Amino acid sequence: MEIYRPRRIRENQIIRDLVSETVVDKKKFIMPHFVEEGENIRTEINSMEGIERCSIENFLIDVESDYKLGIKSIIIFGIPKEKDSQGTGAYADNGIVQEAVRAVKVKFSDIFVITDVCMCEYTDHGHCGIIDDKTVLNDPTLDLLAKTALSHAKAGVDMVAPSDMMDGRVGAIRQILDDNGFENLGIMAYSAKYSSAFYGPFRDAAGSAPSFGDRRSYQMDYRNSLEAKKEVMLDINEGADIVMVKPALSYLDIIKTTKEISDVPVCAYNVSGEYTMVKIMAKNGYVDEESFVKEILTSIFRAGADMIISYHTRDIFKNNWF
Ligand code: PBG
Repeated sequence: MEIYRPRRIRENQIIRDLVSETVVDKKKFIMPHFVEEGENIRTEINSMEGIERCSIENFLIDVESDYKLGIKSIIIFGIPKEKDSQGTGAYADNGIVQEAVRAVKVKFSDIFVITDVCMCEYTDHGHCGIIDDKTVLNDPTLDLLAKTALSHAKAGVDMVAPSDMMDGRVGAIRQILDDNGFENLGIMAYSAKYSSAFYGPFRDAAGSAPSFGDRRSYQMDYRNSLEAKKEVMLDINEGADIVMVKPALSYLDIIKTTKEISDVPVCAYNVSGEYTMVKIMAKNGYVDEESFVKEILTSIFRAGADMIISYHTRDIFKNNWF
């Protein structure tokens, strides 16, 4: 009997490379940074091996060494000294993110700087919006998110990334940016952001766990994919320049759908829990870290991501994994 032989094009590395459908480019990775208010801070994050919280001068040292490796895209998360009910640190002109952006943009003109726009690191209750009793208020939060985005714009950021999941935030941010002469500043919207246990290590890192309840009244339910389409289309219509799916690994189907329906690029966030799973497995010798990281990140690109935010970025550049 005649059999068809797919193995013919798997014979050696050269032919495998020729027929490979997904080619990963290091330029597609964005490195996250946790920048903390204060001086001489460099604190290891227990739950995220190899990632640290740094005050601005140490953050700049890391950005510089990363830059020498070739890393040119970063996203900044801020950790303020003080938190309050209105999250005022988020939109203060001398807030930690605003200062970090100014510092990094003065030193490196060709690093693309994205900032996370959210309230949860700045509110004393840890929710992504302001609250009334136990309810996270949508529309009053929009004003604060817009103010936050504008303050990042004034500090010189290249793109803002709202991660709060309030309804209407992309439109509110687009409007305030346009009204203030920042019509060329882009928005990367965390559009399909699920309420996820995979954020556990990040909340440890950023000290942003909610003090009561959880985020399920604003982040999406992981049982659903239809509403991801809705969220993505809403954000595109409100002016998102890039849409994001988060987390990535358990959400490859969502990335695929998002890529299919979007006429803007798609970012995937390979989140803290995904990172730490890999690190712990590798540390214990259960997997080969390079192979594991490459397989996971390639699968996220294969699903349709155009770029990935990943804590593995530094390791990838250091070891030339792609
Ligand atoms: C802020 C924010 C979170 C993450 C990114 N931006 C935490 C959350 O929504 O609880 C998670 C990132 C990660 O886990 O790596 N809203």
